[in-house]
Amino acid sequence: MMTGTLVYAASADKGKALFESPTLGGGTTGKSCNTCHDSGKGLGSDLFERKQFTFMNMDKKTLADVINICIERPMGGKAIDPQGEEMQDVMAYMKTLTAKPAPKKARKQIEGC
Ligand code: HEC
Repeated sequence: MMTGTLVYAASADKGKALFESPTLGGGTTGKSCNTCHDSGKGLGSDLFERKQFTFMNMDKKTLADVINICIERPMGGKAIDPQGEEMQDVMAYMKTLTAKPAPKKARKQIEGC
């Protein structure tokens, strides 16, 4: 939890390892975020500006909710703490992906869940 004095400094390096780990959230399908979102594929470049997400016909409010759906469904894991260090690290890494001046457009349709 954010407690003012003890703000966790998210690490994009740790986030990269988590992003590439098939066991994030106890995943059971052998897939990692990176399997589907290699180099930020399928991740909108406006990911961190959007206030609200509609995803797979579900209205999800936060980016953490969407990430947890990807952990639960295609990865067969359990949702991780939306405020936790792993989530913050993964997001820090995802920021480096979406920040790239990608030649590709905002969102590419990809196969998956
Ligand atoms: C089996 C493939 C698969 C895996 C594994 C997967 N995702 Fe996804 N993810 C998708 C698909 C499909 C979408 C919807 C993309 C679209 O609509 O074009 C998506 C969408 C998203 C979005 C919303 C993107 C946007 O711009 O709205 C985020 C954020 C996301 N995934 C993060 C993650 C993270 C973090 C992980 C790992 C914990 C992960 N995903 C694992 C397939 C996957």
